[in-house]
Amino acid sequence: MANYFRPHLLASFAVMALVSAAAIAAPPPQGQDQKDAAPHPLAWAYAVPPAPLPPPPPTDETAARTIPGSTQSFTVKQLRDTGNPVDWFPNDHPPMPAIVAHRRSPGVNPWIGSCGLCHYPNGKGRPENAGVAGLPAGYILEQLADFKNGARKTADTGKRNTAVMSGNAAGITDEEAKAAAEYFASMKMTPWIKVVETETVPKVRNAGGFFVPVEGKETEPLGQRILEMPVDPDATETYRNPHSGWIAYVPVGSIKRGEELVVRGGAGKTIACAACHGEGLKGNGNFPPLAGRSPSYFARQLYDIQQYTRNGPGTQLMRPVVQNLSEGDILAITAYLASLEP
Ligand code: HEC
Ligand code: HEC
Repeated sequence: MANYFRPHLLASFAVMALVSAAAIAAPPPQGQDQKDAAPHPLAWAYAVPPAPLPPPPPTDETAARTIPGSTQSFTVKQLRDTGNPVDWFPNDHPPMPAIVAHRRSPGVNPWIGSCGLCHYPNGKGRPENAGVAGLPAGYILEQLADFKNGARKTADTGKRNTAVMSGNAAGITDEEAKAAAEYFASMKMTPWIKVVETETVPKVRNAGGFFVPVEGKETEPLGQRILEMPVDPDATETYRNPHSGWIAYVPVGSIKRGEELVVRGGAGKTIACAACHGEGLKGNGNFPPLAGRSPSYFARQLYDIQQYTRNGPGTQLMRPVVQNLSEGDILAITAYLASLEP
């Protein structure tokens, strides 16, 4: 896997000249390890479930189900099979590598492989994991290495699926990593999250790392949060429909505030992102794309990098970017990024 780092690091050195060397070299803040961090910062982004989810209601597991636009049909048993995630739209993507389509080691670790289970066969992902479609293959391999060697953890250890992701990265072979990376890199990210500025949102419950509206028409103030929820909760929760997207409710005015930070660096508070992440924030070489992706996921990443729980080699260039960001800045930045065309 080592070869994949080199082009990235060379590109990194070129950009480093743009950034103050002192800021890059800044050591982790003294004594500020995970234990000292606030228990649930950016709680809307980590969405730690308050209690284990109740088991799904009993239903006829053998009844065939279909969704609009798909010629496939699956039983509820198949829909709930975590080892062989359903593929509603096989024509949407090239043939999936085995590691994307199936769990590799039944009985050993119930989660290793079947990347498509969490990230969907089309790689678009969900707020509780990550959109991996259209990420550079070299970047994906680097992240898998960081997850594997412990350089990428979550700042809120209540978020358990990050550790599951690390287990995946540790459990796959280099060949499988390469196959998955090339597959997801070849998938294009298309509009997936609709961003809406609002003061009031539907009252929600935590559905296991993401939010869905509770029954009824109750609402509550949004406050200083972003709430990302499925456009059609049943399509997402029950059917895992990879064509059914997300809506992100963001505070009024946050997109404009985010634009100031992202485009102009907020008068020295951070660094204009396009310098590395490319024009339109669509990525550049191994610098990952930022446009039109999950605000919850990105808020966690900015905070994890700031707290040094995500601390792989590539994050050195992000140090001066995240250093002075408040939780409010992170909210505004991620609202703006999500509002862009991917
Ligand atoms: C059980 C669910 C699950 C499975 C299965 C899974 N992942 Fe993940 N993955 C996650 C979660 C959760 C995150 C984000 C962690 C966070 O936000 O802290 C993630 C993040 C990632 C990222 C980081 C994306 C970025 O933008 O940096 C990559 C790359 C990735 N996964 C690739 C894979 C590959 C390849 C596989 C299959 C070998 C896989 N994942 C299987 C849950 C999963
Ligand atoms: C000096 C170069 C540089 C600048 C400027 C920069 N970034 Fe980054 N950014 C990177 C690199 C390199 C990575 C990959 C980190 C890694 O390998 O873990 C990254 C990763 C990220 C990630 C995680 C992506 C993912 O898929 O997990 C986010 C979010 C991000 N940057 C946001 C921003 C924002 C917002 C700005 C502007 C305010 C910005 N970056 C400015 C270099 C930069």
